[in-house]
Amino acid sequence: MKKTFYITTPIYYPSDRLHIGHAYTTVAADALARFKRLTGYEVWFLTGSDEHGQKIERTARAKGMTPKEYVDQIVASFKHLWASLDISYNDFIRTTEERHKRVVQAIFQKLYDQGDIYKASYQGWYCTPCETFWTESRLVDGKCPDCGRPVEFTQEESYFFRLSRYADRLLRYIEENPDFILPPSRRNEMISFIKGGLEDLCVSRTTFDWGIPVPFDPRHVIYVWVDALTNYVSALGYGSDDDELFRKFWPADVHLVGKDIVRFHSVIWPIILMAAGIELPRQVVGHGWLLLESGKMSKSKGNVVDPLVLIEKYGSDAVRYYLLRELPFGADGYYSEEALVNRINTDLANDLGNLVSRTLGMMEKYTGGRLEDPGPVEGVDEDLIELALQTPTAVEELMDRRELSAALAAIWRLVNRANKYVDETEPWALNRDPARRERLCRVLYNLAECVRFIGVLVGPFMPRTPERIWRQLGIADRPDLHTWESLRWGRLPAGLTVRRTEILFPRIDPGSLG
Ligand code: MSP
Repeated sequence: MKKTFYITTPIYYPSDRLHIGHAYTTVAADALARFKRLTGYEVWFLTGSDEHGQKIERTARAKGMTPKEYVDQIVASFKHLWASLDISYNDFIRTTEERHKRVVQAIFQKLYDQGDIYKASYQGWYCTPCETFWTESRLVDGKCPDCGRPVEFTQEESYFFRLSRYADRLLRYIEENPDFILPPSRRNEMISFIKGGLEDLCVSRTTFDWGIPVPFDPRHVIYVWVDALTNYVSALGYGSDDDELFRKFWPADVHLVGKDIVRFHSVIWPIILMAAGIELPRQVVGHGWLLLESGKMSKSKGNVVDPLVLIEKYGSDAVRYYLLRELPFGADGYYSEEALVNRINTDLANDLGNLVSRTLGMMEKYTGGRLEDPGPVEGVDEDLIELALQTPTAVEELMDRRELSAALAAIWRLVNRANKYVDETEPWALNRDPARRERLCRVLYNLAECVRFIGVLVGPFMPRTPERIWRQLGIADRPDLHTWESLRWGRLPAGLTVRRTEILFPRIDPGSLG
């Protein structure tokens, strides 16, 4: 039986169009999903939209629409963006779907029946943009400690969830599973958060009604985070007649989320699962944020970066590459179009593009585009071949540690080593000497084989690029040479005809940025 891998993105709020920061989360999840497929796993990749809550209700009202009308059009824009970025999700869950609502209600009911949920009166503060409750003592200067925006006083009769009852079990789980929360800095943060004492969580609201009704008290709607987190199991058919996906893919291997919502995923979600008697996810990965010099991206500041505009200008593979390469694992990074163009010109045009174009160009010039039988391997070849053979393992290890940027850096070490190999072997000089024909063929063969390795390796990050390499290498119709298992030296068959037909990544004039 194939090994399975279940990965999720957060489900995004359809309160507005998505920006480049959201695209980052989803592109990273997509690269991991594609990588696991490439390395032989049966993957389930879930994304979706988090459609309930006060924020959405208010935004829709302000536009003179019903919440459902409003979210429908935004969700369509999400799907359009994911298609433009080649996101290979297997399912898209909307929290307004029946299949989801049923499960949320069933879990809520179970928790109530067993005494984990009780009714009391809530008095405190609420941050609507974050959909988060805060006690007075947690506020910073009277504002939301997460986003710094104003909070509202709320006083209502609510249901509460006994988080505190499960705190010790959760701590034990985190301690026994050192990779449950990554990176370690987030893990430590969560441990001290839990040790600081968990208060029971308010899990229902009565002051608005755009949500899933509490099954036994429909004047209340279920707190939007409890509703949203449940998507990870409702989408697999948990508790339904058809729970095949749940049985196959749960527990999730990775919940990939931004650092701001690690707490919901590594404290509230596991406790809901424990209480419901469901196995806990294997890992929550909290990535850093993409920042702007001008501060946080926000509509009111007018500094929102629209990924569609960038894709239109530079192509989706280049945008994906930039996002995945620029942010070191777990850390924040600054976005700028100059940095994006710089990555394109340096890594994609100069390094990768140049390697492919030089290799094909020399083959066209020296052997009429034919991949000849290579002669024997020499000392200088061995170094290159060894690196090529080590790279897949190195990349796999880094991907398993979720270090996507480092994995790309490892691939680029091979790209750069191959470029250096051209300078070392000087094929143009070999070509001038008919006695060195065999040597020339070996050098060109090694380069072509390196290009094939790199084509396979970059696929999860830049899914359009391999095809463009295969066409030029003359192996478009040889899927057996595009697989992970094919990364053995010398599979490329002599006799192929290569053709340089396109520049993979044209250089961009930085002056054109204005
Ligand atoms: N709806 C909740 C998630 C529920 S999951 C059960 C939510 N939605 S969100 O649309 O506000 O954010 C979704 C994700 O986008 C979060 O992981 C968040 O960290 C990420 N990002 C939002 N802005 C970002 C950047 N500027 N940079 C990187 N990621 C960013 O939270």
